[in-house]
Amino acid sequence: KIFLSPPRAQLAEGFLFGILRAVKRQRKIGLFDSGLGGLTVLRALEEKLPGVDKVYYGDTLHLPYGDKSDEAIRSFSREIVGFLAAQGCDVIVIACNSASAAAGSMLEASFPDLTFINVIDPVVDALAEGAPRKTALLGTRATVRSDAYAKRLEALKVPHELVALPTPLLVPLIEDGFLGTGIEESVLEHYLNDPSLKGIEAIVPGCTHYPLLREAAAKLRPGVDWIDAPAIVADAVGSAWDATVEGLGTTTYFLSDATPSFLALASSTFGIKAHWEKKVL
Ligand code: DGL
Repeated sequence: KIFLSPPRAQLAEGFLFGILRAVKRQRKIGLFDSGLGGLTVLRALEEKLPGVDKVYYGDTLHLPYGDKSDEAIRSFSREIVGFLAAQGCDVIVIACNSASAAAGSMLEASFPDLTFINVIDPVVDALAEGAPRKTALLGTRATVRSDAYAKRLEALKVPHELVALPTPLLVPLIEDGFLGTGIEESVLEHYLNDPSLKGIEAIVPGCTHYPLLREAAAKLRPGVDWIDAPAIVADAVGSAWDATVEGLGTTTYFLSDATPSFLALASSTFGIKAHWEKKVL
C-alpha cells in the first residue's frame, strides 16, 4: 500500500480526475446530414484530425432536408443528436446548412453539455475577414429562407454584398448520381445565370452537398472564387477540439435508410467501403 501525504494525495486525485474528465469530455466527434453532403465535411475533418474517432449519421430516410419545414428539421436533428451523444460524441458537427440554420440554436439549448459546430458561422467569419466583394450564396430553400448567413454578417457589421439563391435541384441531382454527366453543369449554369448573380466574385457552397460541384463551377465561372467551406469548418472543429485527446481514428457510419444507390455513391464519390449500419430514429 502506498501512503501519500494529504496534499500529494489530492494532487494525484486531481490529476486522475483531470484525465478522466478529458477522456470523458471529448471522446468522439459526431457529424450528421440528410445524406451524402456531410461527407464533404467529414473528408476535410479526416485530414485535420485523423486520430480522432468519428461517428457519421446520414438521415437518408428524410432527405432532402432543404424542402422541409423548420419544425420537421428540428425534430429530425434532435433525435440524431441524442443518438450521437449516446454513441459517445461530445462534439457535434451539424454538417448540414439546412439543419444548422433551422435547428442550430435549439440544439445548443437542448444539449448544453455538448459542443456544437455548425457549418454556417465559421464560413461567415471567414468571409468577414476577407475584402468585401459580391458573393453568391447557393443554398437549399430552408437555408436561404433562414437568412442565417446575412444575419451573422450583419451582426459582425461587415459590408459584404451577399446574394442568396435557392438552388433546390442540386441536392437530388447529386444524391441521384448525376455528378460527371454534364447535367449537373447545365443545372448549375441555369442557377448561376440568375440576374441577381451578375458580377459575382465569389461563390459560397451553402449546402454541404455542393462542394462536389466545385469542378463544374470552375468550368462555368473560371475567374470566380469558390469558397472551400468544408476546410473552413474543419479548421473550426480543430480549434474546438482538445488536441491532447486522440482515439483510434475510426469512423462509424449510420444511415436511416440504406439504398443500393446511396451505398454505391458513398463508395464511388468518397471511397467509403465501410459498413453502413441502418438505424431508424
Ligand atoms: N446537405 C444539406 C445542407 O447543407 C442538406 C441538403 C438537403 O437535404 O436538402 O443543406
